[in-house]
Amino acid sequence: MDIKALVDQAIEAREKAYAPYSEFLVGAALLCKDGTVYTGCNIENASYGATNCAERTAIFKAVSEGAGEFKAIAIVGAKQGEPLDYCPPCGICRQVMTEFCDLDEFKIILSDGDNERVYTLRDMIPYSFDNLDRG
Ligand code: THU
Repeated sequence: MDIKALVDQAIEAREKAYAPYSEFLVGAALLCKDGTVYTGCNIENASYGATNCAERTAIFKAVSEGAGEFKAIAIVGAKQGEPLDYCPPCGICRQVMTEFCDLDEFKIILSDGDNERVYTLRDMIPYSFDNLDRG
């Protein structure tokens, strides 16, 4: 897996972020086991609650296209005009990841633009709820 290339795709996806309320721009790049990459950005809404995170945009794009076998996701975020910083996924995105991704195999890659930190999904969401008891 080329981590830097995946991070670059997340950085590119971040350019599409629609975040006029928080001005916090996030990009994500989801790598499938077959090598396909689905990207996503955060998409905010005047109601605030209807906002969709970058990670879920990428995951929902992938699932809606029929993909289901995921290897890793790269995430980058920062306030508009500020340097990238490590941007851990929110709790809702972690829960959505548990629906489709293996807790120990799936990697979450955070980047500040220069360096990467790599976690497993289990690192990010220990004792996760899984109704199908696959965990
Ligand atoms: N956001 C993401 O897209 N992903 C995260 O992991 C954390 C937060 C977005 C949601 C909102 O548009 C903005 O960042 C500020 O919370």
